[in-house]
Amino acid sequence: MSTPRRHWGPVRSLLCLAPFLVGVSYLAYKENYGKSWHNLTSLPEPITELIDPITGLPQLSEARILAHAQYLSEDIGYRTVGTREHALGDEWMVQQVEVLQAQCEEVIRAYPGRHLQCEVWHQRGDGYHRFDIMGHRLYKTYRDLTNVVMRISDGTEAGKTHAVLVNAHVDSTLPSPGAADDALAVGVMLECIRVLVGTPGWEPTHAIVFLFNNAEESLQDGSHLFSTQHPIANTVRAAINLEAAGTTGRTLLFQATSEQMIQTYAKVPRPFGTVIANEIFSSGILMSDTDFRQFEEYLNVTGLDIAVVGNSYLYHTRLDIVENIEPGVAQHMADNTLALLLELSSSDSVLPTLTAGYSRPTTVFFSYFGQFINYSFSTASAMYTGLFVASLVLVYFTYVDPAPALKQRKSPIAEQLKGMVAVAMGFLGAVLGANVVAFLMRSVFGKALSWFSVELSCIALYGPAALAGALASQLFVGRVREQTVFKSVFLLQAFLAILLQSLGVGSAAVFFLSALPLSASLIFNAFLNNFEDNVSLLTYVLGQFTPISLGTQIFCGTLDVFVPLTGRMGKDAPAEHIIATIVAFCGAYTLPLVLPFVHRYSRALLIRSVLLVTLLTAAVMLYFSLKSPFDTMHPKRLYVLHVENTTSLEQHLHIGAADGAPGFDELAKGVAQRFSVPGVAPKPVTMDEYNGDWDILYPFSAFVTPYKFEMPLKPEYLDPLDRTLKVSAANDTVDRAARTRSLTLVVEHPGVIWTTIAFDAHVLEWTLDKNPPDGFARHHVKEASFYGHNRWAMDLVIKLPGDSDVSEVPKLKVNFVGVHERAMWPGKKAEKEIGGHAMQLFEEFDTWVSDYSSGTVDVMLLGCVGGVADI
Ligand SMILES: *[C@@H]1O[C@H](CO)[C@@H](O)[C@H](O)[C@H]1NC(C)=O
Ligand SMILES: [Zn+2]
Repeated sequence: MSTPRRHWGPVRSLLCLAPFLVGVSYLAYKENYGKSWHNLTSLPEPITELIDPITGLPQLSEARILAHAQYLSEDIGYRTVGTREHALGDEWMVQQVEVLQAQCEEVIRAYPGRHLQCEVWHQRGDGYHRFDIMGHRLYKTYRDLTNVVMRISDGTEAGKTHAVLVNAHVDSTLPSPGAADDALAVGVMLECIRVLVGTPGWEPTHAIVFLFNNAEESLQDGSHLFSTQHPIANTVRAAINLEAAGTTGRTLLFQATSEQMIQTYAKVPRPFGTVIANEIFSSGILMSDTDFRQFEEYLNVTGLDIAVVGNSYLYHTRLDIVENIEPGVAQHMADNTLALLLELSSSDSVLPTLTAGYSRPTTVFFSYFGQFINYSFSTASAMYTGLFVASLVLVYFTYVDPAPALKQRKSPIAEQLKGMVAVAMGFLGAVLGANVVAFLMRSVFGKALSWFSVELSCIALYGPAALAGALASQLFVGRVREQTVFKSVFLLQAFLAILLQSLGVGSAAVFFLSALPLSASLIFNAFLNNFEDNVSLLTYVLGQFTPISLGTQIFCGTLDVFVPLTGRMGKDAPAEHIIATIVAFCGAYTLPLVLPFVHRYSRALLIRSVLLVTLLTAAVMLYFSLKSPFDTMHPKRLYVLHVENTTSLEQHLHIGAADGAPGFDELAKGVAQRFSVPGVAPKPVTMDEYNGDWDILYPFSAFVTPYKFEMPLKPEYLDPLDRTLKVSAANDTVDRAARTRSLTLVVEHPGVIWTTIAFDAHVLEWTLDKNPPDGFARHHVKEASFYGHNRWAMDLVIKLPGDSDVSEVPKLKVNFVGVHERAMWPGKKAEKEIGGHAMQLFEEFDTWVSDYSSGTVDVMLLGCVGGVADI
C-alpha cells in the first residue's frame, strides 16, 4: 500500500507552471498578429519596387497597391454609390484596366507565340433583387450601375470554359473613404494583373476573371449585376472575394465553401484561416455580409472569402485611410491572391472539378503554429469517434481505486460522474461570475464598454470574475479527487468534439485538439506515477499545451471581432454580457486544468483562493470604472441626419448612436442647446419599421434604436425647401371585379441619391421578384443609381382591402427619403459651398462635436429629403 506522495504547495507549483503557460500563450499571441519569427505566420516585408532587381521579373509591390488605394480614397475620396466621386472612381477604374490591357497587347505583339488574351468589359445595367439581412426583408433596385471586368485567358474557347472569379469593390460606404475597404483589394487585383501579364512565358490554362465591382456598399448590387447579367458569368467555377473590415494583421480566410478550394488555399505562401471564423460569420451574428453571398446565390459557385480583419475600429469610418493600414497587410493579401490565381489558372487547377455547385461547407480548416490543416467532415467524425472511444478505454484502465484495502471496489463510473459535475459546475460558475460583473458594470455602475478601446483588455476585467465563479462553484461539489476531475475534463472535451461534429459544426475541432494532448498526458501520467493516484506537474504542462496556445488565438480572434462590433451593435444589444460570456467561454477553454488543480489542495485553500480572486475582481472593476470607452483611434460612431420633410415642410435634426456607452444623453442635450431652437428638449423617438426618417440606413437603422432625437433646427440652419423628391403613380388602373389595383410607382429624385420607399400593401405582383410575400405587409425598397440618374419606377399589382367600396379606391401611403447628393459630411467637405445651409450646419456640428468629445467621435452627417405621398 502506498501513501499519497506529498507534492509542492500551490504557490511553488504555479510559479513553476507560469513560465510555460505565459511563454506558450505569448508565442501564440505573436503568431496570431503576424509578428512571429516564423515566415509562414508573419506579415511579409512590404515590397516597393515593381521589378525584382535580381531576377528582372515583375513583382507585387505593396507601395504600388497603396498608391492605388490612396488615389481612390484621398484624391477621389468618398465613393458612395450615386455620387460624383463614385462616377470618378468608375472612370479611373476603366482607365487603369485599359492601361493594363494595352500592356498585355504589347506583350502579345512582342511575343506572338504567347497564348495570352486580355479582354475588358465596362458593364452597365439595371436590376432588382431581394436582400434579406438581420431578419429584415428588403428589396434593392438599381439603375445603370457599373462593373469593370477583365478576363485573362489563353485566348481559346477551351481556356475560357472554366474560369476563376476574383472580386473587389471600388465603391465605399456613406461615412468612409474606404482605403482598406476596399480600395486596397482593388490595388491588389491591379498588381496581380500587372505581374501576371508581365511574367515572361506565363499562360493561363484556365481563365481568370477580374471583377472590379462598383456597388457593394449599396447592398451588393454590383456583384448581383455581374452574376445575373454578364455574358461570361456562367463560365465562373469559383469565386475569390477580397474584402476588409479592419486595417491590420494577416488577411484572414473567413469563408471557404469547398474542399478543393481550401486545398488550393493551403498552398499559398502565408495561409491564415479558420473554420471558427467561417461558422461565426455564416451564423449572421456579425450583422454583415459580402459579395460572396451573390456569387453563392446567383452563380451557384463555391470559393474563398478573404478579408483584412484586425483593428476593426476604423471600419466604415472616416479613418479608413491608407495611413492607418499596417505595413505588410497589402503584401500579404497580394502574395496569397497571386498564388491562388497562379494555381487555379494552371493545368493542375481544381476548377474543372467544381461542378457540384454551392452547398453547405463540409471541411474543417484552421491554422496552427504555421501549419494550415484541413480535412473533411467525414474524416473529422471518424477521428473524433476514435478519440472518444479511446478516451473511455483510457479512463477505465487508468482508474485507480482510492481505497484498495476495502472489499467493495468503488465504481469508476460514479466517481467519474461526480468529476463531470464538478467540471460542468466550474464552467457554469465562470459564465455566471463574469455575467454578474457585467451586470454590475452596466446596470449598477453605468460603466458599459469600459474595455472598448483595447480588444483584449476585457480579459483583465472579466477573466478574474470568471475564475472567481469557477472556483466558487467547486465549493458546492465537495471533495473530488484531482485525477478524477482531470479525466472528466478530458472525457467532456472528447465528447464535445464528437457531439458538435455530429451537428455539422466544424469548430468541434478545437475540442479534439485539446483532448488529444490530454490523452497523451494521461498515458504519460499513468506511467510516470506507476498508476497511482497522483497527477504530476509535467502532466499539467502537457495537457495545457493546446488549450493555452489555441485558446490564446481564439481569444484574440474572437475579441478582435466582437469588441469593436459592440461599438456598432446598438444600445439595446447586451454588449457587456456578450463580451463577459465570450471571456468566460474562451477562458474555460484556455485553462481547463484549473479545476483539477484546485482539487489538488484542501478546501481551506480553495476558500482562500475564492476570496483572493474576488478581491482582485473588485480591484479591476474599480480600475475599469475610471476608464472612458473611446479615444481618437477608437472612436464612437455618431449618425446625424438633417431631414427636410417636403410634406410637413419642417426641418429636423436627428442624431443617433449605435452603442450603449454612457454619456450620450449629455451629448444630446449639448446638441439641442447648440443647434435646436431655445427651450426645446431633445425628444427620444422609437425606432421601428415605420420610422421613415432613418430609412436611409434601413435595416441598419435598427441599431440606432433609442438614441434618436428629433429637434427643430434654429432658423439659421434652415434650407429653402426646393428639393424635388417626388413619388407618384402612373398607369393607374383598378380592376373592380378582381378588386385589384395596378400602377407604376414612379420616384423622381433629381440631385437626391439612395432613395428608399416604404409602404403597407398586399402585393400580388411586382417587378421586384416573382414571389412577393403573401398578405398585407410593410415593404421597404431601396434604390441605388449611377450619378446623374433621377428617376426610377416599379410596377405593382395590389389587392384592395376586402371591405372597401371599390368606387373609392384607398390611397397608397408611401414614405420616401433620400440623401441630397451635395450635402454629405465629411465626404463632400471639399465642395461644401454648393451644399447649402446643411453643409454649413454639418461643418459647425463636426467642429462642435470634436471639441466636445476631444476628437473621440466619428460622425457621419447627411442632408436628407423625405416625406409621405398618398398616391
Ligand atoms: C447548383 O448547381 C448544382 C450542380 O449543377 C445543382 O445541383 C444545384 O441545384 C444548383 N443550385 C442552385 C440553387 O441552382
Ligand atoms: Zn467592403
